[in-house]
Amino acid sequence: MGEVDPAFVQEPDHRPKLSHIEAEGIPIIDISPIINKTVKDPSAIEGLVKEIGTACKEWGFFQVINHGVPLKLRQKIEEASRKFFAQSLEDKKKVSRNQTNSSGYYDTEHTKNVRDWKEVFDYLVKEPTFLPATPDEHDHQVNQWTNQTPQYPPNFRVVIEEYIQEVEKLAYKLLELIALSLGLEAKRFEEFFIKDQTSTIRLNHYPSCSYPELALGVGRHKDPGALTILAQDEVGGLEVKRKADQEWIGVKPTPDAYIINVGDIIQVWSNDAYESVEHRVVVNSEKERFSIPFFFFPSHDSEIKPLEELINEKNPPKYRPYKWGKFIVNRKSSNFKKQNVENLQIYHYKLA
Ligand code: OGA
Ligand code: NI
Repeated sequence: MGEVDPAFVQEPDHRPKLSHIEAEGIPIIDISPIINKTVKDPSAIEGLVKEIGTACKEWGFFQVINHGVPLKLRQKIEEASRKFFAQSLEDKKKVSRNQTNSSGYYDTEHTKNVRDWKEVFDYLVKEPTFLPATPDEHDHQVNQWTNQTPQYPPNFRVVIEEYIQEVEKLAYKLLELIALSLGLEAKRFEEFFIKDQTSTIRLNHYPSCSYPELALGVGRHKDPGALTILAQDEVGGLEVKRKADQEWIGVKPTPDAYIINVGDIIQVWSNDAYESVEHRVVVNSEKERFSIPFFFFPSHDSEIKPLEELINEKNPPKYRPYKWGKFIVNRKSSNFKKQNVENLQIYHYKLA
């Protein structure tokens, strides 16, 4: 990827600035008090819960350290990702994503309807994963999805499965902290995930780009799920829209930390107390970049709506309920279609 194909050139309003602002402000939170322990006395983690709540409210983004995911496993998956993407396009295309399987490889240079400067490999966290066959609300057929496994590197499947196990534990811990910070029972959200979660893990590769002022690795967007747990490498490029002043702020890489962001589902559950924040990825003229997000998604039949405990006369529900499976299948199918069709968004469920 040397020259910029006109298809990748961003509208002037969305072009990245070359002078980056890096935030010291995005909180870095040490979550060791809840790792490898059952918390018997909630007052022992009061401070931590407060920090999480403030970060969710003020930023929608934070980084965690002492999170319990062994560095060794992360290094192994990062290495497998580098090896996979280093193959020829022809080899990578052996595990291409297609109309009937949303897991696998795709590159946006050869997928004209997506203008992001990246290539991707998607992998389902649960096998099989159950999702509605179509976005049509009257069609009740549910399909079973399985993964494609690259032949190279040979240990790919073992490495990704080992990594998933550990990140999933972290995901549940974070959900507990977020629930507590909203004044809910620690396990309030577990039921949505324990049976048939639809989570995916994604390997992202952003090649270097000679015109970083024209293209974006990922255009601005919000994540649709509950939480995203992102491992980024040392290159940097993720930018978050700061709530205080709407500026794009770079998230400075912190070795071995995970970047956590609140997704649309938590925004709806919390009735807008915690907002899902826009973010994007800028590209680098010299360095390629790798990242690995874990998208924590509930079961397809989960009904998403503001939680009863959080609404009352003064704070009536701001959203009408929607079914997660139909929502995400609608989103995925419009990603396959034209880029000018607007994706389904939570504000389409907003009540006046
Ligand atoms: C995403 C995303 C950020 C990154 O894939 O949704 O925001 O740094 N990725 O790769
Ligand atoms: Ni994202």
